[in-house]
Amino acid sequence: MNKKLIAGNWKMNGSLVANDALVRALLAGLAEAAPVCDVALAVPAPYLAQLQSLLAGAPLALAAQDVSAHEAGAYTGEVSATMLRDFGSRYVLVGHSERRQYHAETDQVVALKAQRALAAGITPIVCVGETLAEREAGQTDAVVKRQLAAVIHLNGHCISEVVVAYEPVWAIGTGKTASPEQAQQVHAVLRAQLAAASDKAARIRLLYGGSMNATNAAELLAQPDIDGGLVGGASLKATDFLQIVAAAQ
Ligand code: G3P
Repeated sequence: MNKKLIAGNWKMNGSLVANDALVRALLAGLAEAAPVCDVALAVPAPYLAQLQSLLAGAPLALAAQDVSAHEAGAYTGEVSATMLRDFGSRYVLVGHSERRQYHAETDQVVALKAQRALAAGITPIVCVGETLAEREAGQTDAVVKRQLAAVIHLNGHCISEVVVAYEPVWAIGTGKTASPEQAQQVHAVLRAQLAAASDKAARIRLLYGGSMNATNAAELLAQPDIDGGLVGGASLKATDFLQIVAAAQ
């Protein structure tokens, strides 16, 4: 059984004042009940310095929400993996559906981003997931397998260095969470695909994301191939996020 990982994805939310209050409430809650699982917060890049300071020595890892596919240079507005490492990022999301949708990120770009992260010593959390139209067309397995295939053979790195997050696009921000059975079915497909590529597949953490909350977390996390959660909205509320962490025992 893998040590579970609960990662909060703040998306484009927060302020210096709100971040301070939220993190202090999380740290107080974690001090009361030390988490058995790993916990991470994926924050907007401008707040990495603040979070690095707030999280120093805490049982909370810092994560970024995106990384450049380039090493360095004339890429205005982008943030490189080494810059993320400078601010103590342990993880970085790559291929989130909102970046695939709004920034036309292809599977190939996602693979390059994952490669850059690994080269900088940062663990990529590679997001895969189908749209409602793809699910209704019976293409779910094909879509997530295609997206995962892009990152299975990264030069000089092993897929076991990667975390995978299955986020059905139709469940993100909608309150329409995948049922535990639906989520487990796709996680099993991903696990089988990883097993065909690596003898370390059982150790690769597969997170579920998409309207995970304090009410449904325990049942989702009880599924055999769900090793944690990638939490959006519920990560912005300390009590909800702490309840999800508590469910990941
Ligand atoms: O990356 C996690 C996010 O996409 C899920 O968002 O609000 O449905 O938990 P939410």
